[in-house]
Amino acid sequence: MINAKLLQRMLDASNDGIVVAEQEGEDNILIYVNPAFERLTGYTSNEILYQDCRFLQNGERDETALALIRQAIDSGQPCRQRLRNFRKDGTAFWNELSITPVYNEADKLTYFIGIQKDVTEQVEAQQEVDELKRQLEQAQSRIRALENDQRP
Ligand SMILES: Cc1cc2nc3c(=O)[nH]c(=O)nc-3n(C[C@H](O)[C@H](O)[C@H](O)COP(=O)(O)O)c2cc1C
Repeated sequence: MINAKLLQRMLDASNDGIVVAEQEGEDNILIYVNPAFERLTGYTSNEILYQDCRFLQNGERDETALALIRQAIDSGQPCRQRLRNFRKDGTAFWNELSITPVYNEADKLTYFIGIQKDVTEQVEAQQEVDELKRQLEQAQSRIRALENDQRP
C-alpha cells in the first residue's frame, strides 16, 4: 500500500491539474490544488482555496457542458467535459475536465477529485482542420461550377 507522503508527492508532481473539492451548499469548494493547477491557471492556492472552480469560466458559460457537469455532480456520477476557461491574466485555454466523486468512510462525506488537462493545442488544431475542410469544399464546388459553365 502506498503511503500518504508518497501519494502527496505524486499529486504534487503531476503534469495535469489535480484538485479536490468538498460540497458546501450549492458550491463545491476547493480544499486542495496541486502545483500544475497553479501553473495552468496562474492562481496561487492561497488565492483560490475555498472557492468553487467556476471562477475559471470568467462569465463565459457553456451551458450544455455545465448542465452535464451539474447533473453528474448531483447524481454522484463521474463526468468528462471540455470547457473554455480563463487564466488569472485573462488568457483562454481549453480544459478537458474530468470529475469523479470519492466517498470518504471516515466523515461519511462525498468529495470530488477534478483533473484538468490543457487541450488547447488539440482543439486549435481541430478547428484549423475544420476550417481548411470548409475552404476545400468551397473551392471544389467553385471548380465544379466553372467546369459546368465551360461544357458546350
Ligand atoms: C472537483 C471539481 C473540479 C472542477 N474544476 C473545474 C474547472 O477546472 N473549470 C471549470 O470551469 N469548472 C470546474 N468545475 C465545475 C464548477 O465547479 C461547477 O460545478 C460548474 O460550473 C457547474 O455548476 P454551476 O452551473 O453552478 O456553475 C469543477 C467542479 C468540481 C466538483
